[in-house]
Amino acid sequence: MNLGLVGKTALVTGSTQGIGRAIAETLAKEGASVIINGRNQKRVDETASALGARGIVADLATAAGAENLLRELQETKVDILVNNAGYFEVKPLEELSDDDWYKMFELNVMSGVRLSKGLFPKMLANNWGRVIFIASEQTMKPHPHMIHYAMSKAANASIARGLAENTKGTGVTVNSVLVGPTLSEGVDVFLEKNAKREGQSLEKSKKNFFSGEAASSLIQRHLTPQEVADQVAFLASVNASGINGAAQRVDGGIVRSMV
Ligand SMILES: NC(=O)c1ccc[n+]([C@@H]2O[C@H](COP(=O)([O-])OP(=O)(O)OC[C@H]3O[C@@H](n4cnc5c(N)ncnc54)[C@H](OP(=O)(O)O)[C@@H]3O)[C@@H](O)[C@H]2O)c1
Repeated sequence: MNLGLVGKTALVTGSTQGIGRAIAETLAKEGASVIINGRNQKRVDETASALGARGIVADLATAAGAENLLRELQETKVDILVNNAGYFEVKPLEELSDDDWYKMFELNVMSGVRLSKGLFPKMLANNWGRVIFIASEQTMKPHPHMIHYAMSKAANASIARGLAENTKGTGVTVNSVLVGPTLSEGVDVFLEKNAKREGQSLEKSKKNFFSGEAASSLIQRHLTPQEVADQVAFLASVNASGINGAAQRVDGGIVRSMV
């Protein structure tokens, strides 16, 4: 399928590794001009050079970082915004400080809000655009020890739907993607630490995850970043013009419901 991305410019936040990088690489392969982002100059430079992309360093956990990124893009027509930058943390409610909640909110929620505020009106003016929020299966299935993360991902889906309500009759769409457990670099580090703590091999620890906590997964394995990227690239494409205001699941069937 030709995704019609040649001539389109895409900003993918948090794209020096993991799901963001896979999305950036897939969009670049499909012919889009891609802008990648992260906090570290060296990693941004290396990724940009590997993908033939433009790189912009910005810490999107701060309003100043988002402003800097938007300033760098003043002269650029951004057609596709993928709000991917985000992190997770496992901590029970009683150990979560107010700062933990605000920190989660700043990156996982406000980065997408600030960039959408800067770029979405221009998409409406151009009568074409795609905004995609990378949410999670936890949008619908909060983990008991990740409530602050689940809150942030529910907010992503809600903001996407709200923004989509402002696109009526235009060529702009806004959607969220509810991603299930995915073997990104970030998750890999977490799993390795877990395995070490449990005194188990990494393979055993992964297997236990799918017989325990993630038992409802229908695919019984982690998704690959590429499996997520393929869905996001489709949503970003001209072919996805009929999908707007949706929360699309790429979760391996882990949420036990049809919709
Ligand atoms: N992996 C999963 O199982 C899973 C499941 C559901 C949803 N998701 C969502 O998918 C997204 C990506 O997750 P991932 O697992 O691929 O993450 P990851 O492997 O940890 O990668 C995160 C990326 O974001 C960048 N980043 C982190 N903090 C940033 C900041 N303050 N400003 C700008 N960039 C920043 C990192 O680059 P630097 O460190 O170089 O800055 C890196 O490129 C997140 O929103 C996550 O919630 C992931």
